[in-house]
Amino acid sequence: MNQPNQPVELVNPFSSGTPDALIPQPCVLVIFGAAGDLSWRKLLPAVYNLNVDGLLPSHFAVLGFGIGSQGDPDEWIRRRAADGIQRFSRQPLEQTHWEDFSRSLFYVEGSFNDLSAYQQLKARLDMLDTQFGTGGSRVYYLSIPPQVVPVCVEHLKAAGLVGDAADPQRFTRVIVEKPIGRDLDSAREVLRDVAKSFAESQTYRIDHYLGKETVQNLMVVRFANSIFEPLWNNKHIDHVQITVAEEEGLTQRSRTGEPTGSRIGYYEGVGALRDMVQNHIMQLMCLTAMEAPYSLEPDMQRDAKMGVLRCLRPLTPEEVDRSVVRAQYIDGEIHGEQVPSYRHEVREFFSQRGQPIPQESTTETFVAMRVFVDNWRWAGVPFYLRTGKRLPKRASEVAITFKDVPQVLFNAKPEVPLEPTVMTLRVQPEEGLSLRIASKLPGPKVRIYPVKMEFNYASSFGGKTPEAYERLLLDVMAGDATLFMRRDAVEAAWEFVMPILQRWEQSRSRFLPEYRAGTWGPLEADRLIESDGRNWRTL
Ligand code: BG6
Repeated sequence: MNQPNQPVELVNPFSSGTPDALIPQPCVLVIFGAAGDLSWRKLLPAVYNLNVDGLLPSHFAVLGFGIGSQGDPDEWIRRRAADGIQRFSRQPLEQTHWEDFSRSLFYVEGSFNDLSAYQQLKARLDMLDTQFGTGGSRVYYLSIPPQVVPVCVEHLKAAGLVGDAADPQRFTRVIVEKPIGRDLDSAREVLRDVAKSFAESQTYRIDHYLGKETVQNLMVVRFANSIFEPLWNNKHIDHVQITVAEEEGLTQRSRTGEPTGSRIGYYEGVGALRDMVQNHIMQLMCLTAMEAPYSLEPDMQRDAKMGVLRCLRPLTPEEVDRSVVRAQYIDGEIHGEQVPSYRHEVREFFSQRGQPIPQESTTETFVAMRVFVDNWRWAGVPFYLRTGKRLPKRASEVAITFKDVPQVLFNAKPEVPLEPTVMTLRVQPEEGLSLRIASKLPGPKVRIYPVKMEFNYASSFGGKTPEAYERLLLDVMAGDATLFMRRDAVEAAWEFVMPILQRWEQSRSRFLPEYRAGTWGPLEADRLIESDGRNWRTL
């Protein structure tokens, strides 16, 4: 018998179905751009955690590729990995696991543009196959700027590093990081270029939000419980709010305020719409709004998500003005600490590098918008999306607000309406789910008070949930593309945001609404939702 509060055996429906699903196969993971930020913070710690949990394939090695190493490249990447693990890993750096992990971690120094570097890569991979028994199978993780992707995939192919997709003995798979392009045309170009070297079945376009436990749980909650689905439509739902709020700005600082790292080089000219909305938020929206796929086959699920993207109401230029707000943070205070404006961070970044400082930046660090999914299920239900940097706290959630009860009985006084029922799926932090319902306040009178029913991952399942990258890397090694973006979905998401980008480009406005760092965004965002008689949720 299971003890109360002890999880019963939990079967992940994404991993069930076929008996051998999610068994990662022997391979070498080659990280392009292994000297970069993503590899340091996320990828190397993710592989380390998989090693600690005993989930890696029996025969496995990691090979970093890129420039920037100092001294012995293998020793250098090991030091960098140890540092990243110490700072960011879910589980602590522990000697036995570290020794095991670091023995299989290597680095080849070389430029992505230099074909001869790929020959060195090939020679090293052949050696690793002999040493680790990885049998010629490869996963290439392209953690590099989108403009470098074409040359990388071309050189990989030219160097004979891409195997046949139909080869039953060994596999070659490529993971393409976002951003895929910076608009629809450039995204199509990247997609085409990758397709020249890799078959669709070899291509894994990553959106790490899909690897988050809580994001996968959206589908489980909807389709593994019978009570939600009958209510999940425009008859019962008033509106949906999807929020991805971040506390961090684009520059990390030491306690004394000195910059210790910056993402401005990537973010300036990209902005929140491309960085968060076109991918992560659209995916959250797809999982919230999609029809039930008729099986868990990867393409069935991906078709169901496409069904949502195809129904998004296109935005005319006038609707962009009415329904989309962008803004940028100015200096402010977060947790009692003064933090500078985005423009200050931009000036600081470029002047420190002796590069020309762009004129006053108009890159948005905040977006709020109202979107409609024009199908029978969702007709007339607004989806309010918002994301921003330097907001008061880190909090991502999907909140479903149900319609008001009729204005009779307990809701008979229009001047004191009842709070609506709200179901919140908390993606992070405090991962969980809550349902706010109206309840009678104990006492002789009938007084109604909103109370919350809570499910919390940490208290139900204990421990920290695995990082998204852990799950996604395993899936690629197992050949499971379910949680990766199909080519048509990438294009459809770009198609949807293009009118916004074009409208902003046309208006060429130097004026951007501003919000003080440490606040919930500009007044314009409040007006957007208040004009519909609703409010943003307080998180
Ligand atoms: C990345 C964005 O894709 O996601 C970042 O480029 C953002 O700007 C990050 O901070 C958020 O990811 P997470 O997992 O920390 O919510």
